[in-house]
Amino acid sequence: MNAPRSETADPSPSWVRHPGLRQWVAEVAALTKPERVLWCDGSQAEYDRLCDEMVRAGTLVRLNEKLRPNSFLARSHPGDVARMEDRTFICSERAVDAGPTNNWIDPREMRGTLNRLFDGCMRGRTMYVVPFSMGPIGSHIAQIGIEISDSPYVVANMRIMTRMGRAVVDWLGEDGDFVPCIHSVGAPLAPGAKDVAWPCNEEEKWIVHFPETREIWSFGSGYGGNALLGKKCLALRIASVMARDEGWLAEHMLVLGIESPAGEKSYITAAFPSACGKTNLALLIPPPAFKGWKVTTIGEDIAWIKPGRDGRFYAINPEAGFFGVAPGTSEATNPNAMKMLHSNTIFTNVALTPDGDVWWEGMSETPPARLIDWQGKEWTPDCGRVAAHPNARFTVPAAQCPSIDPKWEDPGGVPISAFVFGGRRSSTVPLVVEAPTWEDGVYMGATLGSETTAAITGKVGVVRRDPMAMLAFCGYNMGDYFAHWLKMGKAVHHPPKIFRVNWFRRDTNKKFLWPGFGENMRVLTWIVDRCHGHGQGVETPLGIMPRFEDLNWRGLETFGTERYAAVTTVDREDWRAELASHDELFGKLGAHLPKALEGRRGRMHEKLVA
Ligand code: GTP
Ligand code: SPV
Ligand code: MN
Repeated sequence: MNAPRSETADPSPSWVRHPGLRQWVAEVAALTKPERVLWCDGSQAEYDRLCDEMVRAGTLVRLNEKLRPNSFLARSHPGDVARMEDRTFICSERAVDAGPTNNWIDPREMRGTLNRLFDGCMRGRTMYVVPFSMGPIGSHIAQIGIEISDSPYVVANMRIMTRMGRAVVDWLGEDGDFVPCIHSVGAPLAPGAKDVAWPCNEEEKWIVHFPETREIWSFGSGYGGNALLGKKCLALRIASVMARDEGWLAEHMLVLGIESPAGEKSYITAAFPSACGKTNLALLIPPPAFKGWKVTTIGEDIAWIKPGRDGRFYAINPEAGFFGVAPGTSEATNPNAMKMLHSNTIFTNVALTPDGDVWWEGMSETPPARLIDWQGKEWTPDCGRVAAHPNARFTVPAAQCPSIDPKWEDPGGVPISAFVFGGRRSSTVPLVVEAPTWEDGVYMGATLGSETTAAITGKVGVVRRDPMAMLAFCGYNMGDYFAHWLKMGKAVHHPPKIFRVNWFRRDTNKKFLWPGFGENMRVLTWIVDRCHGHGQGVETPLGIMPRFEDLNWRGLETFGTERYAAVTTVDREDWRAELASHDELFGKLGAHLPKALEGRRGRMHEKLVA
């Protein structure tokens, strides 16, 4: 590597007492050759200054202070709008440790590529050093990362999504461990060149993980999970490897609390693939008929789950903010989210109203007569385009969530009663099924399927296997991950019950059959009842299912037995195809597929279609 230029030789402030950290930052600066290096202290003043600079640069639009105080709109490059799974790599020493569901490149080759890409990639830009903690700073469960990025948008988002700034460096002291995360938009600026509003690299995009050395390198994209490296890259892909080695679980799960009128409180986690309803479920408001019931939010995307001394699993939310899907969010579907977004929010790729507020598809039944769409173009309801990108998102502090649970920052976590797996399935999969045993439940999670959404680039609406909603987030061999899940069932005396749900069955006119959203409470209360040993159900080849009379229909009397049948029937032909698709995934995993799951597959076949 070249020696750093004199003015960037060691620009670290006096509060950085960690020689290893200082040296690593100097090395990255020497490679990427930024104009200047800025260590982020995480203060409000720093955030405000960065946002002002981004407004001047055209990256952010300040929204109307009266309607949406301290909030901004960002419009990304049209080619940089979602995670790119085909550009995401797990570069373990051996290909088999990444496994057949991950992209793998030999780490030596990958390092060569990265050194070439990052050489001089920050020319003309500021290199920000962003210290962050996943989990409350100083708690035994927290993991520290340092993200180096040349994107002020990333810095602002990281300040909302994580505990960020000087307090993290103070906690690290002189020799604390951290996960190095290097991010560049991959768009160096020539001297005197004018910048664009959303710099990124149109040719090269790479999101790379080295699980053995616990390093993250991301190049070319400024969007979401590609660039906010604490989230999917650290808290899921790298953390899943830590969890395998240390005996815990890092999962793509929401965590919610549910309290009965008698004051009995239970916590549930649920894994759904991207844009399949985690945020909606985590912020659920019970329908009026559920008087006295309360739902509270611990997290809406990621859970770290560890065995506790009392023989139960305890879950924490490692994040400090929500990066949620905007389209479809409304007073009708998610009133808590609408309240939470009143201020201090960064909106990305939504539409702008003439009075300086935001709008997206589904926010209101009638769209405004005129808008500026997510690409900055004039928009009218009849123009034939969507106003907001389908993967438009908001970044908002979790503390602003009206349903946030009093224990959401408790480093000890909350005790889990049930694990729920769900996907987006127009047919085949019934409303809710309980797994009779832990192994059956692991099979349910392992064979989870879902129709793809706009949260990832590529084709939308095709069913694919997305085991435990972790297809894109498991940092190691999926077969070994299943084995780890089977093992974790024995790590606690009282493993939670496991359920599978599907809110997304459709009729022949493609209309959703299940009302969903707040009405999902009817399924949640059945799940909680089952966990406490007093809900009723019947055994079926798939598992235990509630009969119509086993669910609470108060306030939804119009939903009769006929419609219930439509969301719960199990069709033999559908399941023949479904099991064949399970086989396809299992076949790929070869010798790494645990025998217990193979056996369970055989029994399913006998009961369902033989
Ligand atoms: P990521 O943040 O991408 O991991 O996703 P998420 O699981 O948090 O997704 P989110 O809750 O933001 O999902 C949003 C999409 O799911 C929107 O299109 C919603 O309209 C839809 N959705 C959520 N809950 C329901 C439901 O109960 N029924 C139906 N039909 N749609 C739902
Ligand atoms: C997801 O895609 O599952 C997300 C959004 O939660 S992102 O952070 O972009 O990955
Ligand atoms: Mn997610």
